[in-house]
Amino acid sequence: MDLSGKAVLITGGLGFIGSTIAHAAVSSGAKVTVYDACLDPYGWNPANIAEIRSKVEVIKADVRDRKRLDAAVRGKDIIFDCAAQVSHTLSMSDPFLDLDINCRGALNLLETVRKVNDKARIVYASTRGVIGTARKSPVDESHPTDPADIQGINKLAAEKYFLLYNKAYGLATTSMRISNAYGPRAQVRTGDYAIVNWFVKRALSGEPLAVFGDGSQTRDYIYVDDIAEAMLLAATSDKARGEVFMLGSGVETRFIDVVRLIEKLVPGTKVELKPWPPERKAIEIGRIVLSTEKIRKRLSFTPKVGLEEGMRRTVGFYRQRLKEYI
Ligand SMILES: NC(=O)c1ccc[n+]([C@@H]2O[C@H](COP(=O)([O-])OP(=O)(O)OC[C@H]3O[C@@H](n4cnc5c(N)ncnc54)[C@H](O)[C@@H]3O)[C@@H](O)[C@H]2O)c1
Repeated sequence: MDLSGKAVLITGGLGFIGSTIAHAAVSSGAKVTVYDACLDPYGWNPANIAEIRSKVEVIKADVRDRKRLDAAVRGKDIIFDCAAQVSHTLSMSDPFLDLDINCRGALNLLETVRKVNDKARIVYASTRGVIGTARKSPVDESHPTDPADIQGINKLAAEKYFLLYNKAYGLATTSMRISNAYGPRAQVRTGDYAIVNWFVKRALSGEPLAVFGDGSQTRDYIYVDDIAEAMLLAATSDKARGEVFMLGSGVETRFIDVVRLIEKLVPGTKVELKPWPPERKAIEIGRIVLSTEKIRKRLSFTPKVGLEEGMRRTVGFYRQRLKEYI
């Protein structure tokens, strides 16, 4: 993809997915600005953009700050909104923080774009968490939404804002419902979210992996480089305007099988089966896999990195760079 001459803004651009998009956009020739409030306990990390630091402008600011957004949004051709309160459990213990970042933050961005740069393409990093428990398989874009936690509800509201701003004001918005992401550059300090990466860190540190229940719950794991590619396609295709896409691998994988893969890649890893803690059980959705049909047909996107290869790359990354992430 050629993004030469394009100015790209990435909110949450020091985080896992945002920084991976930054790498992909820089490789495609774009002039990239990342906008990140560097809030804990989220995944911001200067190491995430170390290799491209000289090519990227960094703005340390919050999406709840309209003034700073105003200046950052002007002149941008493409905007990726990846800034978020991403912890499921924190969204339950501090729902107003989640509301503030995930709803007010998203609405701030949209209002700013509407007022100062209404020709920009904007891609929202939504989540398959808007679905909740799957009623059919695979889950496609028409599946009912019934989020299992506060974060999912607020992300769904934000997604609706993005779609409304397309319908009401003609903004070129797209919402990508990202499945379970894994790969290099995710935070590994807490197992609160991005648990696969956290397990890789634990295995490499010689710590046991605690699997709740029997690990038979399933997820659709997608490698982060594939996410970045799909996000760039969404930002550049006219077929994506005003649309929602499920963004997953289309492969249903049991959690225990990912754990066994880590065990294989990091020999000596200990795995322990433990009862579900009640706060986790309360928001566990059981089984899910996403349909890839719409994104394949409309954006010609198919994920390229299978789970085994993706996990090998992930383990390789943290073997080399764990110090920068703990
Ligand atoms: N990782 C996944 O599995 C996954 C799955 C579905 C959706 N998503 C979505 O993708 C997006 C990125 O997630 P991630 O996994 O890269 O998380 P991350 O924690 O690595 O990155 C989030 C970034 O947002 C920044 N941020 C948080 N609040 C902010 C604010 N108020 N203003 C500015 N910056 C702020 C953080 O500092 C952090 O760098 C989020 O919207 C998330 O909901 C992620």
